[in-house]
Amino acid sequence: MTENISESAPDLSINLGRIKLKNPVITCSGTFASGIEYNQFYNISNLGAVTTKSFSLNKRLGNSPPRLCETAGGMLNAIGLANEGIYYFINEQLPVLKNLQVSIILSIFGEDNNEFLRIAKEVNSIKDDIVAVEMNLSCPNVDKGGIAFCSMPDHVESLINSVREILDIPLIAKLSPNNDNFIETAAKARNGGAEAISLVNTVIGTAIDIDNFKPKLGNIFGGLSGPAIKPIALAKVMQLARENILPIIGMGGIFYWQDAVEFMIAGASAVGIGTLNFVEVDAGEKILEGISNYLLEKNINNLGEIIGKVFKKW
Ligand SMILES: Cc1cc2nc3c(=O)[nH]c(=O)nc-3n(C[C@H](O)[C@H](O)[C@H](O)COP(=O)(O)O)c2cc1C
Repeated sequence: MTENISESAPDLSINLGRIKLKNPVITCSGTFASGIEYNQFYNISNLGAVTTKSFSLNKRLGNSPPRLCETAGGMLNAIGLANEGIYYFINEQLPVLKNLQVSIILSIFGEDNNEFLRIAKEVNSIKDDIVAVEMNLSCPNVDKGGIAFCSMPDHVESLINSVREILDIPLIAKLSPNNDNFIETAAKARNGGAEAISLVNTVIGTAIDIDNFKPKLGNIFGGLSGPAIKPIALAKVMQLARENILPIIGMGGIFYWQDAVEFMIAGASAVGIGTLNFVEVDAGEKILEGISNYLLEKNINNLGEIIGKVFKKW
């Protein structure tokens, strides 16, 4: 007997609060620049959205080299948030991205509250050209002795609230897997006015050169990404989804379309493709195609039928 396969293409559109995307595939910050170069390889406007590299107010040089190191099943990076500054994004990259008709999630970070607020003011002038701002809260807060913003839930709430007062577009809080209180932080992010949570950023790690007895990274410690962290990321996403706080963009080690589907079944409404972009230039397109074919084969008409489905089975 032939399987009853739906004739029409499945509806891949998803909502993250007020953010409406045509499909759930998003590139992760810092792994796709602003996407312009990747457009040589595929039409990046086919993606649900492109998340830019995190921008600070002014240009930052980042950490001293070496800044990357391969590990089993993954990669360590200690880039140190090197970037060209928000004015470069606004003046140089945004006009090109607008022409390409890409849905843009602009990632921002600051050393302290004041820097976040100053960036928010600049972004306000271009708010109609982007779908959301992702606040990278895994970065160190210089005012608090370098502790990551996201490890201080109350602080996250007041910061997001202050950014919201300046910038009335959807805000996404990007959290780290390195803090046990990420569920409390997500709840505070919601109270502050965030529309969605991105989870996870990289996992703290290091590597040592046994010939010269030195750390392999200039910064000693770095962030682990890639398939090695997928089970960790998936568990965090599932733990957060269970609390039903905000829609989640799930990421961490997605290398195959099956991984992306797992994240959605675990409760993510959208998925971030990160390190894979360094391995395959057309990664986003391939993952999107895989998800679409999966839905077709299973005769599933829309993603709402699989998002968080793991909980419905318990
Ligand atoms: C080289 C590199 C640079 C990154 N830069 C940023 C960044 O600027 N801002 C940010 O929020 N996350 C940054 N990340 C974290 C990714 O966005 C993503 O959360 C993480 O790598 C997990 O996904 P993956 O395992 O698929 O790469 C970076 C990751 C890598 C590998």
